[in-house]
Amino acid sequence: MNSLQVELEERSYPIYIGEGLLCSEHLKPHIHGRQVCIVTNDTIAPLYLQGLLDALPGEDFRVETVVLPDGEKHKNLETLNLIFDGLLQARFNRQCTLIALGGGVVGDMAGFAAACYQRGVNFIQVPTTLLSMVDSSVGGKTGVNHALGKNMIGAFYQPQAVLADVSVLRSLPERELAAGVAEVIKYGLICDASFFLWLEENIDKVMAKEAEALAYCVVRSCESKAKVVAQDEREGGIRAILNLGHTFGHAIETAQGYGNWLHGEAVAAGMMMAVDLSHRMGNVPVSLVERTRNLLQAANLPTQSPSGMTNEEFLELMAVDKKAMDGGLRLVLLEELGRAIVTADFDAQLLEQTLTHSRST
Ligand code: NAD
Ligand code: GLY
Repeated sequence: MNSLQVELEERSYPIYIGEGLLCSEHLKPHIHGRQVCIVTNDTIAPLYLQGLLDALPGEDFRVETVVLPDGEKHKNLETLNLIFDGLLQARFNRQCTLIALGGGVVGDMAGFAAACYQRGVNFIQVPTTLLSMVDSSVGGKTGVNHALGKNMIGAFYQPQAVLADVSVLRSLPERELAAGVAEVIKYGLICDASFFLWLEENIDKVMAKEAEALAYCVVRSCESKAKVVAQDEREGGIRAILNLGHTFGHAIETAQGYGNWLHGEAVAAGMMMAVDLSHRMGNVPVSLVERTRNLLQAANLPTQSPSGMTNEEFLELMAVDKKAMDGGLRLVLLEELGRAIVTADFDAQLLEQTLTHSRST
């Protein structure tokens, strides 16, 4: 088992990573009081709920479970209310603990519910997708979607602990695994060049779900994320580098309709565009563009944007992305492999070239 720490002074917390952690002793010390509410969904409950319940014996805890409908389309205020209904029906008090058992959708919703219930209760993340292990469960971004925008209603609210049991990834569909690998590759590109090299060597093991390779990916990714979050918890600056490819990706997700492209797939095509633009601006060699493409392709991820999307559509959708709301369009670009910057200082013509090229290569 590996253990890392997210250093945020009084809000610091550990991330445990390993096999078979679900029903381990690591959970209990982070539970405050006796009242525990597990929030999960109807896909994950039949697979892993019992394992978690076994770690929370009835003599020590009073456990309630809220099972949400599965899917990004249910990540909204209406579904969030089901968590509050469960907590209030059980008469849970401010000393209760919420446990999010699921991917990023469950984690974001349970975290937001924990931030709001009685003005804030204890909360633990038990991520079950690769994406949630390497990204959404760490760093305290929580929330739900609004009809007018993704993740627009939410709060920064850190968990007490994150428990990533990589053995649950065995049941994860291949496409969801690949979507998580996109975020893993992101860390190599933005802040961990030697990890990028490791991924180039070991991507087959990762895609074959070899436990050791998966655990290594989660550890290296969480180390990077923890470091960035510790420097900039509320995304006033450097945390934005975690959004490499996301502004392009959000445009693809919005244009294609949520759910048609998975978030990680859209981020993969978006990262390709960010690396391409970084090259056109003279920051990185063409070999890095090729290496990024090869790695994404080896992970069964898209490297081109949807053929039907025009440059105008891209630019319009990118302009309404929330990262652009408080000013002009800002993009995350590479200065070199393993070093990213957030900048509004890019050549609009080169951006057009990237958008055009992303469809034609
Ligand atoms: P998800 O939560 O929708 O999970 C993907 C699918 O896999 C779901 O159908 C889920 O039920 C299923 N699943 C989960 N674990 C499984 C397992 N072990 N075996 C079999 N099936 C399993 O998607 P996700 O990719 O985990 O998360 C995407 C969400 O995360 C989006 O809503 C996105 O906005 C959010 N997100 C948040 C942050 C953050 O910092 N908070 C960062 C990135 C993404
Ligand atoms: N997923 C980006 C962040 O947590 O800031």
